Amino acid sequence: MSVRRLSDASLMGALALLVLLCMVDLAICSSNFTDQLALLSFKSSIKNDPNNVTSNWTKETNFCGWAGVICSRRRQRVASLHLRNMGLEGTISPHVDNLSFLQLLDLGNNSFYGHLTDEIGHLHRLKTLYLFLNMLEGNIPPGLHHCQRLEVISLAHNKFSGRIPKELSTLPSLGFLALGFNYLTGPIPPAIFNKSSMVKIILTANAFSGNLPTNNGLFLPNLEVLLLDLNQLTGNIPSSLCNSSKLTMLSLASNLFTGLVPKQLGHLKHVEVLQLFQNQLTNEPGSIELSFLTDLTNCTSLVRLEVQENKLSGTLPNSIGNLSNSLEILSVSVNQLIGTIPKEIGSLRNLNVLDLADNNLNGNIPSTLGEIKSLQRLYLGGNNFHGSIPNEICLLSNLGELYAEYNKLSGSIPSCIENLRGLQVMRLSHNKLTFIPSSLWNLETLRDMNLSFNSLGGSLDPNIRPSKVLEIVDLSWNQISGSIPRVIGSFQSLTSLNLSRNSFSGPIPNTMGNLITLDYLDFSHNNLSGQIPKSLEALSHIQYMNFSCNKLAGEIPNEGPFMNLTSRSFMENEALCGNSILKVPPCASNSTPRSR
Ligand SMILES: *[C@@H]1O[C@H](CO)[C@@H](O)[C@H](O)[C@H]1NC(C)=O
Ligand SMILES: *[C@@H]1O[C@H](CO)[C@@H](O)[C@H](O)[C@H]1NC(C)=O
Ligand SMILES: *[C@@H]1O[C@H](CO)[C@@H](O)[C@H](O)[C@H]1NC(C)=O
Ligand SMILES: *[C@@H]1O[C@H](CO)[C@@H](O)[C@H](O)[C@H]1NC(C)=O
Ligand SMILES: *[C@@H]1O[C@H](CO)[C@@H](O)[C@H](O)[C@H]1NC(C)=O
Ligand SMILES: *[C@@H]1O[C@H](CO)[C@@H](O)[C@H](O)[C@H]1NC(C)=O
Ligand SMILES: *[C@@H]1O[C@H](CO)[C@@H](O)[C@H](O)[C@H]1NC(C)=O
Ligand SMILES: *[C@@H]1O[C@H](CO)[C@@H](O)[C@H](O)[C@H]1NC(C)=O
Ligand SMILES: *[C@@H]1O[C@H](CO)[C@@H](O)[C@H](O)[C@H]1NC(C)=O
Ligand SMILES: *[C@@H]1O[C@H](CO)[C@@H](O)[C@H](O)[C@H]1NC(C)=O
Ligand SMILES: *[C@@H]1O[C@H](CO)[C@@H](O)[C@H](O)[C@H]1NC(C)=O
Ligand SMILES: *[C@@H]1O[C@H](CO)[C@@H](O)[C@H](O)[C@H]1NC(C)=O
Repeated sequence: MSVRRLSDASLMGALALLVLLCMVDLAICSSNFTDQLALLSFKSSIKNDPNNVTSNWTKETNFCGWAGVICSRRRQRVASLHLRNMGLEGTISPHVDNLSFLQLLDLGNNSFYGHLTDEIGHLHRLKTLYLFLNMLEGNIPPGLHHCQRLEVISLAHNKFSGRIPKELSTLPSLGFLALGFNYLTGPIPPAIFNKSSMVKIILTANAFSGNLPTNNGLFLPNLEVLLLDLNQLTGNIPSSLCNSSKLTMLSLASNLFTGLVPKQLGHLKHVEVLQLFQNQLTNEPGSIELSFLTDLTNCTSLVRLEVQENKLSGTLPNSIGNLSNSLEILSVSVNQLIGTIPKEIGSLRNLNVLDLADNNLNGNIPSTLGEIKSLQRLYLGGNNFHGSIPNEICLLSNLGELYAEYNKLSGSIPSCIENLRGLQVMRLSHNKLTFIPSSLWNLETLRDMNLSFNSLGGSLDPNIRPSKVLEIVDLSWNQISGSIPRVIGSFQSLTSLNLSRNSFSGPIPNTMGNLITLDYLDFSHNNLSGQIPKSLEALSHIQYMNFSCNKLAGEIPNEGPFMNLTSRSFMENEALCGNSILKVPPCASNSTPRSR
């Protein structure tokens, strides 16, 4: 027997088997035809398929081999449709409901628009529905609850509106409900919070309102993730939430929650992310300490703890140092905390971000902060810290941002500050600092330096090192004297320079004409003398210049940015003259009138 005849024979065999099957069960033959029709109908409502995924969806081939289609082995019926990240544009044909063996539908991250119809409820075997990142609108179809085997519903990042159909909470196996970033409103059906099957509930960034169910109504023993942030939820945080001992992520941030931070939060032994910020939470009235921090010391996996922008009061407990070794972000800013920073804070060795800003904290900045070697951002502004900045701050070799403005810090900025090799932003305005060490200018990465409103005196070292990256320098409202270092003309990235309200004297360096990136320049209220250098005419970016209240004299440059200035920029000087547009009197041959 030839090979050819052998294969013919096996083909005949297959056909015979098919005929036999069809005789045994007519449904099998007709039904896989139904799947083909349903898929072709699905294809026909796709208006754009940039990756040609459905181009081999043709009648000539078995649909079980079509791109994205997976059939059940036994029945040759479509079991899953994987079309994630394909750039597909169009509507979802209601005929997908004829894929009656479908278990998984993944159309995530495409551009499907229009409504999701109630027919989806015919997919009785559906377990997993991923439609996230599309442009679907209208209501979430209540019919979805007929898909009683559903475990995963992911509709996040669409334009769904209306309420969550309360029927969804009857789905017995639902474990993952992600509806974040839609336009959903109304209360969240309370029964969703009384489902032992739930593992992840993500409802971030909608307009949900109302209260969460209280104690008995909240039973989520398997919950791992609960994200309800960016909604308009009200009422208390139910303490029974703390019975969900498997929780790893809890965000209730940016809502309207009131009442106490539940003491039982410490029961969440596995919690990694705890975000309660931007609410109106309080601690027990009259409490001396922010005691829930102590309660959290058993949460040994905690990585982020963010409770800023609430109404928390009391002191930071010493046990703050007993928080998780894994803690990377600790934010308690914009509350009503009092007292000092406990020295124990130095034990939080893995902290990246420490935000204590805008409270009523006082005392010294503890030297133990220097032990937090991993610290990248330190926010202490808007408190009443006094004393000098401890030298130990210079040990924070990873520090990128130091904000301590609006305090009462005094003394010199430590000269070891140059050790902060990665410092980019330093905002120390509104303190009582008295001295700028010249080493400060050695910070090669510093972009933004604001030392305004201090008591800085002395003069700037003429030999400071020019910075390639410094963009913003604000030294205004101090008592700095001496001349403006000529080297400032080499600060090649400078966009804003404010030296106003000091006692700078001597001439404006003509090197300043090199600062072509400069937008703002304020020299007002100093004792500068001599002429305004004509080189400044080259500052083509400049939007604002102020030379007023100095002892400048001579002819005001006429070209470039000087054509747009008003006389306010030059008032109260010794003897400026010569710019007719500004109505500054002309420079007479021997008398130089005072400008006004
Ligand atoms: C879906 O099934 C219904 C009834 O079984 C049928 O009328 C309809 O034509 C089918 N649609 C497609 C696209 O196959
Ligand atoms: C899809 O097919 C069209 C027409 O055959 C072709 O021009 C285009 O390059 C194809 N796109 C991709 C991503 O293969
Ligand atoms: C229906 O199933 C049979 C047997 O599995 C297969 O050979 C046939 O190609 C299928 N029909 C369609 C339209 O895909
Ligand atoms: C259709 O395209 C997919 C992806 O390129 C490929 O895996 C599959 O074999 C093709 N199917 C047919 C029937 O050509
Ligand atoms: C979405 O899909 C596109 C390709 O179509 C891909 O480039 C992009 O990274 C995907 N986005 C997400 C969030 O997965
Ligand atoms: C929560 O669910 C349980 C079991 O399904 C039920 O017995 C109980 O009445 C529900 N509680 C509330 C407050 O709805
Ligand atoms: C759940 O929490 C509430 C309030 O915190 C408590 O009264 C109750 O005993 C807890 N239930 C379980 C099963 O742990
Ligand atoms: C931490 O856990 C231990 C052991 O379970 C317990 O004795 C202690 O009271 C807990 N501490 C806090 C602050 O909850
Ligand atoms: C912090 O932990 C240490 C060592 O486990 C313990 O001795 C100390 O009492 C704790 N401090 C507070 C305030 O809980
Ligand atoms: C410097 O800080 C002061 C006070 O916080 C603020 O008013 C000023 O705008 C800041 N300067 C710059 C250039 O941002
Ligand atoms: C200094 O000048 C800059 C640029 O005009 C401005 O943004 C800043 O607010 C000024 N500083 C103060 C303390 O006013
Ligand atoms: C003057 O201001 C106008 C409008 O703000 C602007 O278009 C023009 O470039 C400026 N001229 C100079 C020389 O800065």
